[in-house]
Amino acid sequence: MPDLETDAVEADTDVTIFVCTNCRAEGDASVRPGVPLIEALRVAASGKPLKVKPVSCLANCEKGPSAAFNHRSGWSYVFAHLSLEKVDDIVAGAMMLVEDERGFLPLRGRPSCLRGKGMTARIPPFHHHEDMPQ
Ligand code: FES
Repeated sequence: MPDLETDAVEADTDVTIFVCTNCRAEGDASVRPGVPLIEALRVAASGKPLKVKPVSCLANCEKGPSAAFNHRSGWSYVFAHLSLEKVDDIVAGAMMLVEDERGFLPLRGRPSCLRGKGMTARIPPFHHHEDMPQ
């Protein structure tokens, strides 16, 4: 049975930020930095077309804390080495993905924590055309 309240909220969501709750802090395996990161992201994303959800693992465990952006009809991205200090940049990057009409996260202007060693993977949308070399 559909949850009408949740579905109504989802309709206003263009990008979901999934944050791993199982990544361990470097040097202290009892600390799970994704948990406070979720709370901080929810505050920073308030009023924006973003949703922040916990997820138990993104298969990016050696590079945690990890999170992913999932665009409703566009690309998805997995990020590494995140922290509370990067909350504003994470939300700024998620809004870049919201605002891109292709559902693509542009490299130009992207916060530094979401590129280079901070980025693990990007996954095309379901409807993506084929990229065969010519
Ligand atoms: S435990 Fe966080 S990505 Fe696997």
